[in-house]
Amino acid sequence: MPMLKKLACLAGAASICALVSLSSFSDDLVPSPERPGNSNDDPIKKPKDLSGRSIKCPRVRAVSAGWDGEEGTTGWLFKNDPWMAYQRGREEFIREFSAADGAFGEAGKMAGLVLEDQTSKIMTRDHVASCTMCHNVPFRDGGAGVTFFKNGGTGRNTTHTFGSGLQETLGWQLRLKILEKGDLNRDGWIAKGEADRVRAVVENLTPGIDGEHVSVDFGAYGDLDKNGKPDINPICLIHYVDADGKRISWARNLTDDGVAGYTIEFQIFGWGHRKGAVASTLRAFSANAYDMHTGLQAYDPILSEEPNNDGLAGISVPGMPQFISGRTRDRGVVKDARGVSREDPDRDGTLEEITSGDLDLIEWFQMNHPSPAEKTRTALRETGRKLMTSAGCTSCHVPDWHLEAGDAGNKDYTKRYLGDRRFFNLNVAPNPQTGRLEGRVEKRDPLKRESFTIRGVYSDFAHHDVGPAFHQMQFDGSILKKFRTAPLWGVGSGAPYGHDGASLDLDEAIRRHGGEADASSKAYVAMSEDDREAILAFLRGLVLFSCDDLPCDVDGDGKIADNFIVAGQDTGPERLNPEWLFRIPARIEGMVVNPDGVKVKSFALTNLEDAYGAKLKWLRDDDRDGFPDARFAANSK
Ligand code: HEC
Ligand code: HEC
Repeated sequence: MPMLKKLACLAGAASICALVSLSSFSDDLVPSPERPGNSNDDPIKKPKDLSGRSIKCPRVRAVSAGWDGEEGTTGWLFKNDPWMAYQRGREEFIREFSAADGAFGEAGKMAGLVLEDQTSKIMTRDHVASCTMCHNVPFRDGGAGVTFFKNGGTGRNTTHTFGSGLQETLGWQLRLKILEKGDLNRDGWIAKGEADRVRAVVENLTPGIDGEHVSVDFGAYGDLDKNGKPDINPICLIHYVDADGKRISWARNLTDDGVAGYTIEFQIFGWGHRKGAVASTLRAFSANAYDMHTGLQAYDPILSEEPNNDGLAGISVPGMPQFISGRTRDRGVVKDARGVSREDPDRDGTLEEITSGDLDLIEWFQMNHPSPAEKTRTALRETGRKLMTSAGCTSCHVPDWHLEAGDAGNKDYTKRYLGDRRFFNLNVAPNPQTGRLEGRVEKRDPLKRESFTIRGVYSDFAHHDVGPAFHQMQFDGSILKKFRTAPLWGVGSGAPYGHDGASLDLDEAIRRHGGEADASSKAYVAMSEDDREAILAFLRGLVLFSCDDLPCDVDGDGKIADNFIVAGQDTGPERLNPEWLFRIPARIEGMVVNPDGVKVKSFALTNLEDAYGAKLKWLRDDDRDGFPDARFAANSK
């Protein structure tokens, strides 16, 4: 069959050729990785996965719209079917993208920002088809993972993204709190001389919130060491501005022509870089990762337009203000008659490889992704936790942070906090009876923007020089000395440690600390073996977990059922499968006879299209070209 189509293609006129190959893309010409089938289907025509854990739906580019958007748009999903939106966002994270999606094309090419020599690039591109190939432990969640060549030959280890939504919101709050003390006249930026000697000190917890209170010093606003740059902690990316507060994109110094001051972006993610080589938001991080690792370029006006020329781009549908530093490679300058961006930056013939709607969904998934958990706080672990404070570890590895409630309308812009934008919180705790970790889904209203205290993250989100054993020589020979205090939540789920993954156990990682952490690391080394073991036991208790397998109360009845019934079928022990919580809950096949002649429970679905909304106006893709049919119906008038 593919052969015949190819012949038709060769013989026919060019336009017919294009038509033929377009309509047959996902049928048989191009491999496509989904397994939508169940045990009644022919596995050649409809691949199956009876465990139910593979991606089931063919890919269709999502359409971005606000919370009152039409059926099947991202805003509509957030409001009416948040778990399906979460699952579709998760699929974008774990999907193996195919040639039909526009994956690869520039494999091995040097890419990303340039290092200090202004020429050497930070990494090479297009090495894997999926986020999950790196973010792999645990599998199918935003896990941690491999080390690969980035910044320098010693490489960078993959961080986990558990709890990354809370971190993103905290990043915005830290930006505001730093501006609050430096922008005294509240014109939106910090002028030379405005607060030169003031220090940017931020409290982790509001008075009255219990926990260990720590003041974090993010440096001075002025250029006291006269190197031309503000002495603010390098976690803050500086945008230099003119006397009207407008960004001067080429400026690199307070003394550059026309520079009157600066504003900041708080780069809460990643191990640490100079010059803002990683994005400050989940949306921009994802767009960039798709481009760099898989060769998929996003076209996203929300990231790419800067209405006030002040470093800020649009606000995403999940409610996160974006920065122009995250602008996408595809700018949509030229569009075809159907309204599709024709830019195709990697020239592989696939248009709008990632849409704004796709970014809404992957942002929604990561923003709501559960945080790591802590195993039973035994007496030994409690001792270890106390020793972390007495040894000075928690001066950098700050345990908790309070997120203020949202206050978008505050007259003082430095108080316009976002609040918690998640639609659920997964409370995970050890069950004293069974000793196992158990989850409880706590619903939250994403539009209420309530306050929330982030417990047990163990980072001050500042960069520190923790000594030469951690310094990274970059490709160009420049030395990166400062790294973000690695959040310790999840650290018990496995080696390796450090930005380079070079410490293969926790003890090594702690002993490797020097520089600003010298006293603390010496205190650790001087401890009795029992005390060191207590610290290690405490750290080993800070874990990730597989969301698929964690026993979990998902329906809020206070119990974890042994035989959880969904859509009339027994799905086994109650667990956090988002499919159980869809507006139209997924119905599993149940007991079937497998190829061994044995009865097994099939988790393949019998109502796939309904559950995943495949017939909703803005998701329906009958011609299987990867774009919802409604997009072209609306634009071809
Ligand atoms: C080739 C391996 C690789 C792939 C593929 C990959 N990442 Fe990452 N990711 C990393 C590494 C390494 C870091 C840490 C980067 C650094 O600071 O140098 C990271 C960091 C992150 C972070 C920041 C987490 C934090 O708390 O610091 C997010 C978010 C993220 N990745 C999202 C994604 C998404 C979304 C995709 C897929 C579109 C993706 N990544 C694909 C390797 C990868
Ligand atoms: C001056 C600040 C500071 C102090 C004090 C400090 N750390 Fe760290 N810690 C860091 C930084 C920065 C990193 C990240 C290093 C890197 O990126 O390679 C880190 C990394 C770690 C890691 C590796 C985490 C990972 O995910 O790879 C562990 C474990 C750790 N610290 C434990 C401790 C313990 C225990 C103490 C006290 C004995 C301590 N630290 C004291 C700043 C500090």
